[in-house]
Amino acid sequence: MSLVTSTEMFRKAYDEGYAIGAFNVNNMEIVQGITEAALEENAPLILQVSAGARKYAKHVYLIKLVEAAIEDTQLPIVLHLDHGPDFETCKSCIDGGFSSVMIDGSEHPFKENIEVTKKVVEYAHAHGVVVEGELGQLAGVEDDVNVEEHSYTDPDQVQEFVEKTGVDSLAIAIGTSHGAYKFKPGQNPQLRFDILDEIARRLPGFPIVLHGSSSVIPELVAKINQYGGAMPDAIGIPEDMLRQAATGAVCKINIDSDLRLAMTATVREHFALHPADFDPRQYLGPARTAIKEMVQRKIRNVLGCSGKA
Ligand code: G3H
Ligand code: 13P
Ligand code: ZN
Repeated sequence: MSLVTSTEMFRKAYDEGYAIGAFNVNNMEIVQGITEAALEENAPLILQVSAGARKYAKHVYLIKLVEAAIEDTQLPIVLHLDHGPDFETCKSCIDGGFSSVMIDGSEHPFKENIEVTKKVVEYAHAHGVVVEGELGQLAGVEDDVNVEEHSYTDPDQVQEFVEKTGVDSLAIAIGTSHGAYKFKPGQNPQLRFDILDEIARRLPGFPIVLHGSSSVIPELVAKINQYGGAMPDAIGIPEDMLRQAATGAVCKINIDSDLRLAMTATVREHFALHPADFDPRQYLGPARTAIKEMVQRKIRNVLGCSGKA
């Protein structure tokens, strides 16, 4: 088994009313935790790498880790560039063995977004790689940039964008956001299902992607703070809303922050309970297990892709 693209995965997910989890990877324990969960659940999987992850771990290490995960599990796995900022980064990932890239032109005006996305699609498709584009802007923190307000995707633009660019999937903004602070305390988390439904009506059968879909489990934030953390009130997207989206046109759901929280809570707890430990395996092992349990929870509660590999 080698890397696969998401084409068949999304077709099946769309038809059968579930979504594929796209989880961010930065090191070996994260790759192992995620893939162990997918193996136990027999679930299809997208492992995604941000520009920051490539800078942190180096492209070659991440590629080899994902290749090792495929050899180890024999699962269908997509290796995807998350939030590709420009053509050059996308090209480097396409040339370097990824099976899927995102070109995030969402901060550009519509016309320029089409131009850069089309350029990536032409290069990617010539190399057997699929492309995710984005229309609309999520609020939240991404690559140290803090966007205060959502700029919801305009359903009037989606058909033209997909036709002119040739993208294989489309990320949209309906109220999800990056990071752990998606809503303010006292706010009632809501997603704009009216916009999602209208986009699905305009693009029948076309796979939609949701970024910023961590649920920020309150017990994890409480555990981090119990063991010396100082996180302010953090609120995410309720899992039942994401589950609802996954039964419709949403075929890919991006989750990173929930894995970071699970890992951090576990490491903090470990050092609070075992302050004399200094062997990294003693705390990275439990952190890997925490990632596995979180991914299993997502596969069951949010994605509905158990048994679909
Ligand atoms: O949406 C962004 C992902 O959570 C990746 O975050 O850029 O800090 O690696 P990063
Ligand atoms: P979260 O910060 O909600 O986990 O979103 C991750 C994401 O969208 C990666 O592209
Ligand atoms: Zn994202």
